[in-house]
Amino acid sequence: MATKTTAARSAYRCLECGWTSLKWVGRCGECHAWGTVEEVVGAPQRTVRATAPTTPAVPIAQIDPARAAVSSTGVGELDRVLGGGLVPGSVVLMAGEPGIGKSTLSLDVAARAAREGRTVLYVSAEESAAQVRLRAERIGALAPRLLLAAETDLATVLGQVEAVGPDLLVVDSVQTIASSDVEGAPGNVAQVRAVATALIQLAKTRGVATVLVGHVTKDGSIAGPRTLEHLVDVVLQFEGERHSRLRLVRAIKNRFGATDEVGCFDLGDSGIVGLADPSRLFLTSRDRAVPGTCVTVTLEGRRPLVAEVQALVSGAPGGSPRRTTSGVDSARLAMILAVLTRRSGLDVLGADCYASTVGGVRLGEPAVDLALALAVAGARLDVALAQGSIAFGEVGLAGDLRPATGAPRRLAEAARLGFHRAIVPTGSLAEGAAPRGIRVVEAGSLAEAVSCALTAAPR
Ligand code: TYD
Ligand code: MG
Repeated sequence: MATKTTAARSAYRCLECGWTSLKWVGRCGECHAWGTVEEVVGAPQRTVRATAPTTPAVPIAQIDPARAAVSSTGVGELDRVLGGGLVPGSVVLMAGEPGIGKSTLSLDVAARAAREGRTVLYVSAEESAAQVRLRAERIGALAPRLLLAAETDLATVLGQVEAVGPDLLVVDSVQTIASSDVEGAPGNVAQVRAVATALIQLAKTRGVATVLVGHVTKDGSIAGPRTLEHLVDVVLQFEGERHSRLRLVRAIKNRFGATDEVGCFDLGDSGIVGLADPSRLFLTSRDRAVPGTCVTVTLEGRRPLVAEVQALVSGAPGGSPRRTTSGVDSARLAMILAVLTRRSGLDVLGADCYASTVGGVRLGEPAVDLALALAVAGARLDVALAQGSIAFGEVGLAGDLRPATGAPRRLAEAARLGFHRAIVPTGSLAEGAAPRGIRVVEAGSLAEAVSCALTAAPR
């Protein structure tokens, strides 16, 4: 039996992703695959010898900043999330579920760059060249300098890049390219990692801005256990509901800018279009107030979005109630129903309750609580909030209200869209005064908010 000395020590390695462990485990700690960890006996310890550097270290002030110059993608909403645009030599991973619009957006960006006179190579590993051409025709991306290659082998892709010498490279998708030097099918973690590493190295050495398209797996991780996230410079995540055209693109990692920006897009037949002013999409236009609706302002990163919450309460308490939500969290709705019942004397706990947002937007922030509560209370009492009102703030279990962050920014967005009355928790104006044109009503508790929103006539 081998003794575990430092020179020849047994290690355990996952055959799927290459994760190593000092003891045997049944399930890989990285890719969570079962039964893939095997012993590698006597793995020799590698020692690294120092070699003379080819490029000596330079004083930081002497480094050419032009290497990190940002160039606009031509899509304002994308530039916003990227922190200005694409940086030569940087690698952006566009991640999202199938059908969400990754290929459409990356082809659009590729065509825009080509029209600006840059050489662009679009490598399609998922679709045939003819399919990509059809999409390009549909979205108006037939640019003469946009070169298309349908390849699935890593070495050939690298060869194409050498031959074309592009300024921008798009690889759609990183999971469908495979290296013949690595075992396993395309898309397994070792393959994806090898492909991404080779493309990243190429991007850095040749100064090519690179966009890698990546599929999100069922459990929400990109190409297996987030192995790509720390390799690339920027990770963009696509979000959106299947039945809605709205797509939000969020930077979840960005070495060149902030990660609290979000880009809004409309995905339609003729391509994906940036929405510079998306708030109007999430509102219903009507000329009179309707019970059971309340407008709120949510913050997506730094960006305030005005959105409407709708609720319907039906049936008398008793039996087992139905709860259906769309765009709002069902656990949050259950909590709001309990708080309304116990702390504000409105019996809604036993009734059927439906809640949804307008335009397919997802409101996951606790600051939406107050609007959800007012929509439910309004539906229950059959009283409408006064036209032009908004509400935001977090609801506590004790029926208390807590101010939301960024209240001045939210109020300013509401005022810009013509809202003139805001119901907010007491203390919401600590960060700054309300903008002109909007009257702020501060409520100390949920019961107080319900009474001033739904019974007192606005002055
Ligand atoms: P796509 O960009 O291929 O998504 P991904 O690369 O993320 O898988 O597709 C985006 C959407 O485009 C898809 O949901 C369906 C839509 N689409 C049209 O609207 N019209 C069409 O003719 C086709 C082929 C697709
Ligand atoms: Mg695609």
